[in-house]
Amino acid sequence: MNVPRLHPDTIEQVKQRADIVDVVSEHVVLKKQGKDFVGLCPFHDDKSPSFSVSPSKQFYYCFSCGAGGNAVKFLMELGKRNFGDVILELAKKYQISVQTLQVEERQELQRQLSVREQLYEILAIAAKFYEHALHQSGGRAALTYLRDDRKLSAATIGQFGLGYAPGGWETLHNYLVEQKKYPVALVEQAGLVVPRKTGDGYYDRFRDRLIIPIHDLQGRVIGFGGRTLSNEQPKYLNSPETELFDKGKTLFGLDKARAAIAKRDQAVVVEGYFDVIALHTAGITNAVASLGTALSMAQVRQLLRYSESKRVVFNFDADRAGVQAAERAIGEVAALAYQGEVRLHVLNIPDGKDPDDFLQSHSANDYQALLDDAPLWIDWQIQQVLLHKDLKQADHFEQAAVEIVSLLGNLPNPNLRTHYIQHAAELLSQNNSRLMPQIEENLRLQVRGQRWHGRSQKWQTPGDRTLLEECESQLLRIYLQSPEHRSLITEALEAQDLDFSLSHHRFLWRQIQEIQTDHQPQNLMERLRDRCTEFPREMNQVYALFELDEKTQLDVLRSPLVIRSALAGMEQVMCDKRRRHFLDLWKVTDCVATPELGQYYVQKMQAEEQRLRELDRQRRTNFVDLVKVPLEQSI
Ligand code: UTP
Ligand code: MN
Repeated sequence: MNVPRLHPDTIEQVKQRADIVDVVSEHVVLKKQGKDFVGLCPFHDDKSPSFSVSPSKQFYYCFSCGAGGNAVKFLMELGKRNFGDVILELAKKYQISVQTLQVEERQELQRQLSVREQLYEILAIAAKFYEHALHQSGGRAALTYLRDDRKLSAATIGQFGLGYAPGGWETLHNYLVEQKKYPVALVEQAGLVVPRKTGDGYYDRFRDRLIIPIHDLQGRVIGFGGRTLSNEQPKYLNSPETELFDKGKTLFGLDKARAAIAKRDQAVVVEGYFDVIALHTAGITNAVASLGTALSMAQVRQLLRYSESKRVVFNFDADRAGVQAAERAIGEVAALAYQGEVRLHVLNIPDGKDPDDFLQSHSANDYQALLDDAPLWIDWQIQQVLLHKDLKQADHFEQAAVEIVSLLGNLPNPNLRTHYIQHAAELLSQNNSRLMPQIEENLRLQVRGQRWHGRSQKWQTPGDRTLLEECESQLLRIYLQSPEHRSLITEALEAQDLDFSLSHHRFLWRQIQEIQTDHQPQNLMERLRDRCTEFPREMNQVYALFELDEKTQLDVLRSPLVIRSALAGMEQVMCDKRRRHFLDLWKVTDCVATPELGQYYVQKMQAEEQRLRELDRQRRTNFVDLVKVPLEQSI
């Protein structure tokens, strides 16, 4: 260990003296903005300044990637340096005299250093030990395996810090505990040694295995994967979960991939360590791997932080296990995908190969071509539904239709839904043009039947209905009576993704749109009246909107206010529906098995509640304004 042991007073003086703006501005161009400074974040490929530095708090924070801390942390993360180094450098810069510790004080400090810091240190030392062992005579077979079987260069081996755990039972144990004097309890906590069942002593977890270090985002070692060189089971032995190593939150290779993910605006997720290594070696450096567990929402979120347009490709093995892994992973992020918050594609390499196998006989360009062609997750899922089905058999056909309907019913975007219903009808009818229209219509009905928002009335309460009746008829009345406000209404509905919910209003709105596509707007009222003869029953319900009484005349005169109020009311009903929908989903979510999903629904509910409060406020202030405009004045 060559980390200098510094006196706490020195550390304190340095912390006091080092000004955050001073330190950061040596590395980042900062611009003053109010009390704070902003600049491009040095920890990710920042396109607009999302990095902020607060002199009053002596703190930096990136709103985009979440990096944050004080001046010391900044230098540690930027240069991947340890605490002692940074303090020393700052002490030199600010001419603070450096005091080191005596042996007794050193032991005291050892106790004071947090357990986490010691664990980082132990893991870093262990990684160095394994790396060294790879190049000793005992590691010859492992090195040969990496070079000859895996075709890895010395540079790649170094870049990933690959190593070898010697075959003895206590080699690492002796090195760390006897030689380096680390407490064995901590070495155990780091996941490196295992207590003997007999209760006397410990043995090394990794023995005669190839070692692949796993790093956190700052590039610190937090765990290891160990691959057998014989045919021992398991093929891969991994570090257990520790204080530092949370498998559900870690992605192998993300420390090396994040810049490329931001640059290519896309992340590739694969299954294996060697898949990542092979891809990076081939220049496809935006690849990461999940760690032998199903991909979690937390992992996907991490990736999304770096890709601006949220593009993720899952490239899992095409064998059964791989397809299952992909389906499990999609299940976990489906809620995000359905909302369009992640643009998820799924790639299965032909012939059941993993990316590593593929790259042994193909070029990086070949792989890139596969990536570019990878279907969107929903297309992939439709393919999976149809994969082992013979659509000529009635029960297979029925099963496929049911599964497809349940996939498409969750798509919130109506255009996408229409697109996929057509597409699915094509697939199900196997291009039999006689059958297709009927299948398409059936799918449409079934999809509509299971949808929850938009047109579905499932969530409507009597109060909602009254509010909608009022708001929607106000909008339609103004639209009909006040031509100069028409474009405002159309644009606002579109911008806020709102639609008329009550069937008679929807009917009228459709008539209006049909007429307007091929006629002059001046003729609108006239043409609508003509239509009354074609659709007497439907038009009867909306006829009142064509006439003005005293109150409704006033609405038209105060159009902008009434329009705003009415839109807010319609959105309110929508938000409330969505809120209840998420509540329902949350109720049936197993929050222990999938805590991320539970949390996601809670966040969604909270977002809707917040929007509801805003809308309520809007409607209230609007109402006050409405009352303030007296009749005489507005006329
Ligand atoms: P695979 O079994 O698909 O192996 O495991 P692979 O990556 O193709 O391995 P090679 O090419 O034979 O070396 C994929 C990933 O699943 C985890 C590891 O992370 C591995 O990289 N895994 C697999 C385990 O954690 N334990 C195991 O026993 C097997
Ligand atoms: Mn493989």
